[in-house]
Amino acid sequence: MTENIYNQRLDYTKNDPLELEALPNNPFELFHGWYKVALEKIKRDPNAMILSTVSNGQPRGRVVLLKKLDEKGFTYFTNYNSDKAKETEQVANASITFFWRELERQVRVEGIVEKVTDKESDDYFMNRPLGSRIGAWASPQSSEIANREELIKNVEQLKIDFEGKEVVRPKNWGGLRLVPTYFEFWQGAPSRLHDRIVFELKEGVWKKKRLAP
Ligand SMILES: Cc1cc2nc3c(=O)[nH]c(=O)nc-3n(C[C@H](O)[C@H](O)[C@H](O)COP(=O)(O)O)c2cc1C
Repeated sequence: MTENIYNQRLDYTKNDPLELEALPNNPFELFHGWYKVALEKIKRDPNAMILSTVSNGQPRGRVVLLKKLDEKGFTYFTNYNSDKAKETEQVANASITFFWRELERQVRVEGIVEKVTDKESDDYFMNRPLGSRIGAWASPQSSEIANREELIKNVEQLKIDFEGKEVVRPKNWGGLRLVPTYFEFWQGAPSRLHDRIVFELKEGVWKKKRLAP
């Protein structure tokens, strides 16, 4: 079994090389271009990203879904009492990582996490299917629970409580936005001579450069 892992490797061949000067000066523009390709080519979860936060010096990663991208940053939705949300309340620095295997591309984004407005959270929440809305009420995300039945019981009770009423957003659920100060676009190339292009925000201006793979 370990032998299989040992020999697990691919050569990357799909993309035309990235030329620093030919790329946009704004990383959001480049991200939009890459994301468009991801949407076309990736059937499942092109918006899945690893969100990494820090808990007392301990890095912690998990997958969340990108739900909104605008000129401010990358928004995901979660329980504000979850570990990830509490962690960025303590230390706002976080990173997100997209890996689009089919495209031989990775994007890393680093920055500061902030809460979105209540209106943005309400708008997104009300757009979710009823089952997910009830689920947001039912699940004390990241807290220990005795068993699955506990969750199912919560859901049954909530269905009764909300009978004839609109299932509105719980105040402890909503959006968080990572506002970037750093992007790295990675693209596979043959013989491990991959492209890596970094954008850093310096005094309000994005500076780009190439890194060795
Ligand atoms: C494909 C995928 C998508 C997910 N999307 C979200 C999401 O958008 N929001 C969220 O809170 N958790 C999402 N999760 C669950 C998280 O990975 C994680 O288990 C949960 O949020 C609790 O993390 P925490 O205890 O570190 O806060 C997703 C998991 C997977 C595998």
